[in-house]
Amino acid sequence: MSPATQAAVVTGAASGLGRAIAHRFAREGIRVALWDVDLAGVQRAAAEIGAAARAFAVDITDTAAVRAAWVATKAALGVPSILVNSAGILGPSAGIASYPEEQWHRVLDINLNGTFRCCQAAVPDMLSSGYGRIVNIASIAGKDGNPNVAAYVASKAAVIALTKSMGKELATSGVLVNAITPSASETPIFGDLTDERRAKLLANVPMARMVRPEEVAELAFWLASPACSFSTGATFDISGGRATY
Ligand SMILES: NC(=O)c1ccc[n+]([C@@H]2O[C@H](COP(=O)([O-])OP(=O)(O)OC[C@H]3O[C@@H](n4cnc5c(N)ncnc54)[C@H](O)[C@@H]3O)[C@@H](O)[C@H]2O)c1
Repeated sequence: MSPATQAAVVTGAASGLGRAIAHRFAREGIRVALWDVDLAGVQRAAAEIGAAARAFAVDITDTAAVRAAWVATKAALGVPSILVNSAGILGPSAGIASYPEEQWHRVLDINLNGTFRCCQAAVPDMLSSGYGRIVNIASIAGKDGNPNVAAYVASKAAVIALTKSMGKELATSGVLVNAITPSASETPIFGDLTDERRAKLLANVPMARMVRPEEVAELAFWLASPACSFSTGATFDISGGRATY
């Protein structure tokens, strides 16, 4: 399958990793649907990319909106053979005893349930065509754990588990499902990063720097391509040497 015949959906594409991934795909001639709850942001990102891109306002906590966006994307760009789930939030920083329960549900609803909703919208068409690539952006935090962001860590561990389950379930269908576990990248997800926070984020990273969104995009592009042909349900590290398994 050549990139020029393909369409992709990238969620969270207004910003950070999703935006970089959308740019990377478009560079190969892939038509990209940029989905994000931030309409102005996603329109800006689509305008940067040009004619190969379309912006869609989609809140991935809303099942009907996700399904409608999939239908609208098919009408605009053809049936997508690629889905990248990058939309996500960090949620508050709080110890477990005081972690606000409504925020716990919110983080899970975006990071985990949102990923599930988008997969559910995409898989039937991918199964019909006998080909698909799904890339879920998890986090090294989902493997290692990080203190004071329990909902985020739990959501990312669950995305890794969802990826494993879907990978096995769809293994003979032509639809491959993999996850990426980046370490920290300096994107708007952290808000204003203080030097102290940056130092903490880098403390466990042997390469002693943040991963660049373009580096994550490179891995996502390979996982979304036909060149990735014998990996599914797998979790791909991009953590500057932090991961130990
Ligand atoms: N930046 C990092 O350090 C890092 C590290 C590991 C994993 N990740 C993961 O990478 C993904 C992208 O993060 P980022 O760093 O690009 O963050 P970001 O804040 O730059 O981008 C996230 C995007 O998701 C969108 N979004 C949030 N809620 C949404 C919803 N309900 N519906 C649709 N879109 C929604 C936001 O509007 C934003 O544009 C996230 O899943 C994050 O957990 C990030």
